[in-house]
Amino acid sequence: MPSILITCYSRTGKTKALADAIGRGAKTAPGMSVDVKSFNMVSATDLARYDGIVLGSPVYFGSPAAEVKELLDDTTFVRGKLVGKVGAAFVTSGDRTGGKETAILSILQAMLIHGMIVVGDPINPELEETEHNGGHYGLAADGPITDDDLHQAELFGKHIADVVQKVFG
Ligand SMILES: Cc1cc2nc3c(=O)[nH]c(=O)nc-3n(C[C@H](O)[C@H](O)[C@H](O)COP(=O)(O)O)c2cc1C
Repeated sequence: MPSILITCYSRTGKTKALADAIGRGAKTAPGMSVDVKSFNMVSATDLARYDGIVLGSPVYFGSPAAEVKELLDDTTFVRGKLVGKVGAAFVTSGDRTGGKETAILSILQAMLIHGMIVVGDPINPELEETEHNGGHYGLAADGPITDDDLHQAELFGKHIADVVQKVFG
């Protein structure tokens, strides 16, 4: 059965709320094993056990948190084992123009270097114009997490799971 790991660093719970919603969305895909794991329970070796890896972070000074960078740096020890896996990123920030895209791209950059298949966050026709809050390169939300953010996160999770199903199902 294809598998997806969703994890994120989160100090005050906003990014974690998105992780849980992405997990809910991914679980709606039939025949998919989905683990939403606490960040401190995940090592680089764990990442190599999954077909899809969804990694999230708060935006810290326009970049992912140092803890997320540390995990990515540790993936040098599983180099070669992430080739061809599906990867995606999500972030939360305090401000609308707070560096969400640069932080997402920083995570995706590492995934691309590993030869992973990177999945973005397409604008879903189900969403109203007013519901769009970021997306494009990955899932992003700023300010307090809203029901719209959680809805978009569920759709993002389902989208990633559909891609994992196509590649590994
Ligand atoms: C050290 C630090 C740096 C931050 N830098 C930024 C930033 O550059 N841009 C921004 O919009 N928010 C910034 N924030 C706010 C966080 O990105 C935001 O509150 C985030 O949603 C917290 O996620 P969490 O609840 O998962 O910990 C920063 C917060 C901290 C603690």
